[in-house]
Amino acid sequence: MEEMRILLKYADQINPESAQDYIKVGGYKGLEKARLMEKKALIEEVKKSGLRGRGGAGFNAGMKWSFVPQDAPVKYVVCNLDEGEPGTYKDRIICEKNAHALLEGMAICGAAIGSDQGYIYCRGEYPFIVKLLKNAVQSAKQAGALGNFDIEVRMGAGAYVCGEETALIESIEGHRGEPRFKPPFPGVAGLWGVPTVVNNVETFACLPYILTNGAQWFATIGAAKYPGTKVVTLTGDIVNATYFEVPTNMTLRDVIFKLGGGIKNGKKFKAVQVGGTSGAFIPEENLDTPIDFDSMGTIGAALGSGAVLVLDETRDIVDTVARITKFFEHESCGKCNPCREGTFRMREMVQKVNEGKGTERDLESILLLARVMRRASLCGLGQAAPIPVESTIKHFKYEYMRKLI
Ligand SMILES: Cc1cc2nc3c(=O)[nH]c(=O)nc-3n(C[C@H](O)[C@H](O)[C@H](O)COP(=O)(O)O)c2cc1C
Ligand code: SF4
Repeated sequence: MEEMRILLKYADQINPESAQDYIKVGGYKGLEKARLMEKKALIEEVKKSGLRGRGGAGFNAGMKWSFVPQDAPVKYVVCNLDEGEPGTYKDRIICEKNAHALLEGMAICGAAIGSDQGYIYCRGEYPFIVKLLKNAVQSAKQAGALGNFDIEVRMGAGAYVCGEETALIESIEGHRGEPRFKPPFPGVAGLWGVPTVVNNVETFACLPYILTNGAQWFATIGAAKYPGTKVVTLTGDIVNATYFEVPTNMTLRDVIFKLGGGIKNGKKFKAVQVGGTSGAFIPEENLDTPIDFDSMGTIGAALGSGAVLVLDETRDIVDTVARITKFFEHESCGKCNPCREGTFRMREMVQKVNEGKGTERDLESILLLARVMRRASLCGLGQAAPIPVESTIKHFKYEYMRKLI
């Protein structure tokens, strides 16, 4: 199976800031079509395409839009470009190669829910992308491509939790980036308390192609229940440490060995962590799983952001996980107990095992704490933080055992 470029088809062939360049390759045609449709019909079209969120939760995009009350006087469209997940840079690549697809997608969403204001929340570490996007918005306005839809670019300050949609909203409002209790969901009460759709960059960027080519066309690409393509970013001990846009039914093995060129320096494969730092570690025997959202779920993993971190045979799994637990301890916002205290204790216990001072009792305590954090944490950060630990104790227990006292 080969790469399939839709979002990245004209990568490096057009100037990403120029609306005129984008228009020359068929850009803004989807928005024109969307504007001629009834709002309900437009939402139905997106539902029919089967497009599901590319930011991690995999929620049906059209369904999410349908929850927005049509009669609300003010509504917002928010793009999540926080991209704080280590090893993930797909949203940056989409902006660098095809920024106007994102702007067009946001305007299509605006047409569907009846909003004339969009915000892009960009991670603090991407100042060059903020500049690129501001220039792209300016260029789209000059070309009259966005009509009455306006887009503002806001910059985060570099907190991982601000990728969580309600923390992101708090941050745009100028507050400390902490997740809100849900419900109400943003679709009903989001930015400044009004109905707000939050979608990922890649989700928005799919929309122009769905509108131009039809929902049916999109629905038949890749996996039936998670159709379309996915931009994956390969890092770690892999020959081609770069990005690829692949149909969602491609297997992990093909991503790593065909596109990625296999393991660097002739070494053997040990594990792959999919979906970023909060993802599960997957052993060799599960590599024939397609990368779509549901298939990954069947092996206890998650597609997440689409980051693919490959580890070769020489890597120390417990040491890798110990570093991950430090990351979560640092990034926990502290709002809820199970995560604030849990990420601290988890780091402490995994570190103890890694330093050769742990016992089997510590492993039991780690698993117990993991269960509590998954069930009792307020947001996805605390709920997902134990996944790397649990998945490695499941698949690579011998690495922990050999470090115990
Ligand atoms: C800790 C945490 C970090 C997140 N980071 C991101 C992110 O960087 N980008 C993103 O699109 N979604 C992120 N999400 C998911 C968002 O909360 C939300 O589900 C997503 O933006 C919705 O867009 P989608 O439906 O298009 O995927 C994160 C969630 C959590 C809990
Ligand atoms: S789970 Fe962690 S990051 Fe999320 S609200 Fe609780 S303390 Fe904050």
